Amino acid sequence: MNSGQGRLFDFAQGASFLESESSKAVFLSRLKSPTGKTKYKRYMGSPLRYAGGKSLAVGLIIEQFPENLNRLISPFLGGGAVEIACVKELGLKVRAFDIFDLLINYWQIQILKPHLLFKELLKLTPTPETFIKVKKTLKKHWLGEKLIDDKIKLAAYYYFNHNTSYGPGFLSWPSYVYLQDKRYQTLIEKVRDTQLSNMKAGCASFEKVFKRYADDFFYCDPPYFLEGDSKMFKGIYPQRNFPIHHKNFDHKLLRDCLINHRGKFVLSYNDCSTIREWYRGYKILEVGWQYTMGQGETRIGFNRINKNINHVKQSHEILIVKDWDDKVVANKKVFIYGKAIKRFNHRKLY
Ligand SMILES: C[S@@+](CC[C@H](N)C(=O)[O-])C[C@H]1O[C@@H](n2cnc3c(N)ncnc32)[C@H](O)[C@@H]1O
Repeated sequence: MNSGQGRLFDFAQGASFLESESSKAVFLSRLKSPTGKTKYKRYMGSPLRYAGGKSLAVGLIIEQFPENLNRLISPFLGGGAVEIACVKELGLKVRAFDIFDLLINYWQIQILKPHLLFKELLKLTPTPETFIKVKKTLKKHWLGEKLIDDKIKLAAYYYFNHNTSYGPGFLSWPSYVYLQDKRYQTLIEKVRDTQLSNMKAGCASFEKVFKRYADDFFYCDPPYFLEGDSKMFKGIYPQRNFPIHHKNFDHKLLRDCLINHRGKFVLSYNDCSTIREWYRGYKILEVGWQYTMGQGETRIGFNRINKNINHVKQSHEILIVKDWDDKVVANKKVFIYGKAIKRFNHRKLY
């Protein structure tokens, strides 16, 4: 377990003073942006590029995490920016889930066999021809027409298609920026060198994860809420071409899971009145970071169009924070400070 303590010795001064600082504080101070335009720099720890990923928001999100945390549960893994930071920088255990089976197969292989995944990726040359071949094979697998039985090959094809595509997106179009030898080599070396031994990934819908980890701390990054006065008109996820994973997302069920959850949580959402109303009992923070593509926003500035200015946009997101544990007496089972005296017998997800 990570004690959350970092030790700083100043031998240069000849003094052997010991200072104790939490690994969270050490990480956040390293992540501070030198320009001051944003509070924190982008965190580049994840090997997976991900549309709607939280790499720019990692610092702001982790700021809200409790001190002395042992384990993080994440039901919406996606590109895993926050989760990877928690494993690599904070030394936390991470149990992460997503409903998208191909994504989870990639993460499982990334965690367990990064060297074999690298070898498989070395077999692919980053050209438009390879891109088309991989995309066709992956599409046949996705449609159930011809399955890729080898999990390492499936992970490599998913990763290649995803990381060398525009957006990036699942079964999307090729990105000529990423389909270059040097760039590709850098990408796949990151796959080889990313060690995530404290992390496990599983394929599950979020409600099962809430049942299994009823007392844990959760970080949740669900699909956007697209109704009412939401400024987003579509989801921005890599399955954008195949919107099944965000189109009919059950936001009310997630609300009920979170409200009934006994542990603490941090939840990121797009800012709109329904979400503010549903979560009004919790701490709500307005946070801003930048996205570099027109990720589903309806508001396109007149000046931006006229002056042909690039497509960098501010996010319109909020963080919703529950910073207390519930002491619950339910069915004569007493839960004290996140530790169950008697536990419910949940189905094992791994
Ligand atoms: C906003 S993305 C997460 C992005 C991630 N935090 C990152 O930094 O890259 C939302 C994720 O939720 C997943 N998802 C959608 N519906 C789900 C469900 N019912 N249960 C679990 N995951 C789901 C999608 O596949 C997608 O990867």
